[in-house]
Amino acid sequence: MSKNNVVMTVAAGGCLQGEVPVPGDKSISHRSVMLGALAEGVTEIQGFLEGEDPMATLQAFRAMGVRIEGPDQGQVVVHGVGLHGLRQPPRPLYLGNSGTSMRLLAGVLAAQSFDTTLLGDESLSSRPMRRITEPLAAMGARIESSDEGTPPLRIKGGQSLKGIDYEMPVASAQVKSCLLLAGLYAEGRTCVTEPDPSRDHTERMLQGFGYPVEREGNRICLQGGGRLRAMHIMVPGDISSAAFFMVGAAIARDSDVLLKNVGINPTRTGVIDILQQMGADITLENERRAGAEPVADIRVKGSELHGIEIPVELVPLAIDEFPALFVAAACAEGETVLTGARELRVKESDRIQVMADGLNELGISARPTEDGIVIQGGELRGGRVDSHGDHRVAMAFAMAGLRASSPIVIDHCANVKTSFPDFVATAWRLGMNIKETAW
Ligand code: S3P
Repeated sequence: MSKNNVVMTVAAGGCLQGEVPVPGDKSISHRSVMLGALAEGVTEIQGFLEGEDPMATLQAFRAMGVRIEGPDQGQVVVHGVGLHGLRQPPRPLYLGNSGTSMRLLAGVLAAQSFDTTLLGDESLSSRPMRRITEPLAAMGARIESSDEGTPPLRIKGGQSLKGIDYEMPVASAQVKSCLLLAGLYAEGRTCVTEPDPSRDHTERMLQGFGYPVEREGNRICLQGGGRLRAMHIMVPGDISSAAFFMVGAAIARDSDVLLKNVGINPTRTGVIDILQQMGADITLENERRAGAEPVADIRVKGSELHGIEIPVELVPLAIDEFPALFVAAACAEGETVLTGARELRVKESDRIQVMADGLNELGISARPTEDGIVIQGGELRGGRVDSHGDHRVAMAFAMAGLRASSPIVIDHCANVKTSFPDFVATAWRLGMNIKETAW
């Protein structure tokens, strides 16, 4: 957790109205810099998320000798060094709060000629890494973690990797992407089978960079030893950031918002399906493409929501949106039941426990289960909740203010900057009475 306590205070009531863009997609921003750095030629990126997480990835590649201009209002220019052009960084790479940086980079670094060490903040330092170190070891990598399988990761260079055929025990785009990136360097074919579809930005972007990727059902394969060719990338707005305002508008009567230029890749739109099943009024306008990714403007109007049993197949497609969806459930009529979401316990915080604690504090019955939660819709009162340094928990509780009977104060919000640096300003533009104070 940050040493400074950044506190957000949200006035009770109100609604959301107006049109706003949302910041660039975090997952795609990470990948644009990674693949741009490993490509041959100059990659131009527009719409890059200037949040702390993608910036950690960008700084890591700078530290490995890649020339990167920007970011300047979302524009980044990456002078690719090719798959074999990275240089040993002078010191360990510090990746802050960013699990995506650490897990994807580990795949690239396992195949380099030099040693590297990857460090993170307190939250990242307690996140599970065996899910990548074990399959990477099966490919021939040498990586040490703590006895608990957590960071720091010490990666030994000079190993030659061999392709594997790996069945992932959980649907994880980070694990899949890590292994595909390692597979670029491996001898032979690397195949990854996922139990359910997870976000496929890596596969789409590799193909955009001219690297063949085969997909058959849930099995994705590539052949090592190819090359990446630089390209132009337009990063769409992040549906995971839009999700807070989708929920805010859905729960607050008289709301009408248009969230512009949002990525609607079908591996990310679980939040739309779940909210619509709960009775939300959501429409997609102006559907189009931004390079390899589909985008749209998303209109959301206030409506009466009702509780549902969340279909388990939607869980990986909405994995980052559950803190916001739990707030929607708290404002819905009746009970909402989530199962099959054990992964939420190992995100930036234990999102099941932390959200249940906060909702209970606000007078809502929310009962954690091993792999989910049961939430009874009700009247939200105000109060003080702790986000435990988790950006998405902090922003979700900010939306709860729209339906609370008195103000909500949220502690430990500094990490909102990892994914949505302009969150408070954007919420203001839509009419929320929210302020941020640093202690
Ligand atoms: C991400 C994948 C997801 C998601 C994370 C970003 C990615 O993690 O929660 O915020 O960019 O690949 P898992 O792969 O652990 O599900």
